[in-house]
Amino acid sequence: MKRNVMILAAGKSKRMKSKTGKFLHPVMGQPVIRYVVEMSELLGSEKTVVVVNNDFEPVKQALRDKQLEYAVQDPQLGTGHAVMCGVDLLEGGSTLILLGDAPCIRQETLKEMFEAHEREQADLTVLSVNHSNPYNYGRILREGEQVVAIREHRDCTPEQLEISEINSGVFLLNTDRLKEYLPKLTNDNAQQEYYITDLIELMNQAGLRVRAHVIDDESEVIGINNRSQLWEVTQTMQQRINHHWMVEGVTMIQPDSIFIDAQVELNPDVTLYPGTHLRGKTMIAEDAIIGPNAILTNCQIGQRSLVENSTLKDSIVGQDTTVGPYAYMRPGSVVGNHVKVGDFVELKNAKIGHNTKISHLSYVGDGEVGDNVNIGCGVVFVNYDGLKKHRTIIEDNAFIGCNVNLIAPVEVGRGAYVAAGTTVTGNVPAEGLAIGRARQENKPGWAKGKNKAAKE
Ligand code: UD1
Ligand code: CA
Repeated sequence: MKRNVMILAAGKSKRMKSKTGKFLHPVMGQPVIRYVVEMSELLGSEKTVVVVNNDFEPVKQALRDKQLEYAVQDPQLGTGHAVMCGVDLLEGGSTLILLGDAPCIRQETLKEMFEAHEREQADLTVLSVNHSNPYNYGRILREGEQVVAIREHRDCTPEQLEISEINSGVFLLNTDRLKEYLPKLTNDNAQQEYYITDLIELMNQAGLRVRAHVIDDESEVIGINNRSQLWEVTQTMQQRINHHWMVEGVTMIQPDSIFIDAQVELNPDVTLYPGTHLRGKTMIAEDAIIGPNAILTNCQIGQRSLVENSTLKDSIVGQDTTVGPYAYMRPGSVVGNHVKVGDFVELKNAKIGHNTKISHLSYVGDGEVGDNVNIGCGVVFVNYDGLKKHRTIIEDNAFIGCNVNLIAPVEVGRGAYVAAGTTVTGNVPAEGLAIGRARQENKPGWAKGKNKAAKE
């Protein structure tokens, strides 16, 4: 049967107290709403309609790569009203209604819900859970297998508040049935809103079968209304992602301190230490060791490499390379194999060849460094003249001594040496030596008189 999905995402997110709607807050690197849209994709939905409010541009932008239709709800008169706003875009088959603020429902759960709906020959199935803290959720009222009503927390009697079975907000029903009963909803409740949940009483009055598909895992149904729930959802997603990668062969030391975005790719025998954050489209190859305390955004790390206590953005690191502790790789850095990028080294838009060492305290900005190069301590690629950035090229086997300034644009030829303390303003020929510093002069006995005077 044809599957339609409708995602309700028109709420104003007041309880978030944020400039940004709750659907766009990121959870493990991805806006909340994308998880819900991906749920509908995995179910093979033929048509997915997202109901949005009048501030829809940012939502559309966040979902621009997805095949979706949009309906605008303005003003927001409740979940039932939201469905009314989008229902004309749906035709035939069944409709699954999802809440845009509940991103943790599993694909298998929804599959089982579809199966239960058919097996029970239900007219409407609601996804429910027995919740340890049902506060603020709608309660499921039953007579045996039949769900007779869903009562919002605000509208419950004290006895009804004792009920622990709650409405997840997910409903499955025949599209034509939805169209038949939707116009009958009223706003006769504490909030004076049109509740989608009132469909259940209306369908009961008509003698239709309403069932609940009950699940055990309450983490699946968390709806984000405030920042505390945003954190609950983040933790749920974090645990799922970490569990997934551990099962795939990744070692994690203290996984609750490790945050891996949804799109990250890991490989067997990767080890992650506490305080590791892998963000965006990061990829870590086999046997690499990351952390403790490493933040990698959109990076690729090669096999057996080590990244410790460092921050890397939009960069590529080869195999058997070590980065850190306390290195900073900024966008556009590409580092080869068997390289050392040591402590307090900053790279920016820099290409570093194989077997090169930049062991400590250097800035390599807009540089191209060949293979087997040694960059001593305190070398600065002086790339900025106040107006423009310029490039520095260091060819293979060159040796740059400590405390050298390379005033770009400048080139150091193959196998050339630059003496410590030199400020390089012109190109250095291959195999040559550049030395540019005042010659040392010794004045024997010069301090003697001085020291005496100081003591007296
Ligand atoms: C809703 C359910 C409650 C359920 C809970 C599960 C209703 C009346 N209540 O309560 O039974 O236990 O979800 O999380 O359905 N929305 C619109 N337009 C509106 C109002 C809401 O699109 O006019 C959207 C919201 O953006 C949100 C979803 O519908 O994504 C649910 O609305 P929300 O206000 O969060 O409802 P809850 O109070 O959480
Ligand atoms: Ca909610």
